[in-house]
Amino acid sequence: MVSFKLLPLIPLLLTTAAQNATIRYMPFGDSITEIICWRALLWEKLQTTEWASVDFVGSGKTENNCKDSKYDRDNEGHSGYLAVNIANQNQLDGWLQRNPADVITMHLGTNDMTGNKAITEILAAFTKMVGQMRSHNAKMKIVVAQIIPLAIGSYNTKIQQLNAQIPTWAAGLNKTESPIWVVDQYTGFQNSDLRDGVHPNAAGDQKMLNVWYPALIKAFAAAKADQNAGTAVKFVA
Ligand SMILES: *[C@@H]1O[C@H](CO)[C@@H](O)[C@H](O)[C@H]1NC(C)=O
Ligand SMILES: *[C@@H]1O[C@H](CO)[C@@H](O)[C@H](O)[C@H]1NC(C)=O
Repeated sequence: MVSFKLLPLIPLLLTTAAQNATIRYMPFGDSITEIICWRALLWEKLQTTEWASVDFVGSGKTENNCKDSKYDRDNEGHSGYLAVNIANQNQLDGWLQRNPADVITMHLGTNDMTGNKAITEILAAFTKMVGQMRSHNAKMKIVVAQIIPLAIGSYNTKIQQLNAQIPTWAAGLNKTESPIWVVDQYTGFQNSDLRDGVHPNAAGDQKMLNVWYPALIKAFAAAKADQNAGTAVKFVA
């Protein structure tokens, strides 16, 4: 039975939460963010660190047979989506509106390859989405992947061309208060790390975690520094 005597505690709890705000992390991308298990491995690894309280955010909550009942499943991975379409349809705007974030990872472009989009168009979509991230949070900490290879079709030359342009593209948009860190998910990732030619298997999930991890730790630390300085962007929602 819940007693009404508990009610006076609520303002105290809110005060504590406001003083020590949780860092919100949005894993953003396509099926390589949605129907994979690197998010579960990442969450488990964070539990042993000072970042255990990082809150994964996003509209996706489906369990993906990762045999892990504990991890925070919230993510913004959308299977089959193209970067170009997400940008053209302003979808990230609504996603960030519903689930504000301090830190975001982006692994996108794979479906743009199979969808025959030009690299210039993909990078223009990335630019628009970085703008949307920063319009929601001027201090968004952004981690962008040079994407993993495909073992179906013959797309890897074009993937390599996209990946090769990402560092220069990112450097051109870099901001002290909203850094973009580029991580290389391609190098060292083999066909045998894919379960179906597209998505990582257990070995691939582990490789992807290992590549995201150091950049994410930097991103969390930067978001935490904003909070400690009292300059973190606050959200009404
Ligand atoms: C705030 O977070 C730090 C770790 O970053 C922790 O040591 C401290 O206990 C927390 N304070 C409150 C009031 O929750
Ligand atoms: C962006 O700046 C940060 C430092 O704030 C740096 O660590 C990072 O490598 C830079 N990113 C790029 C793509 O140059």
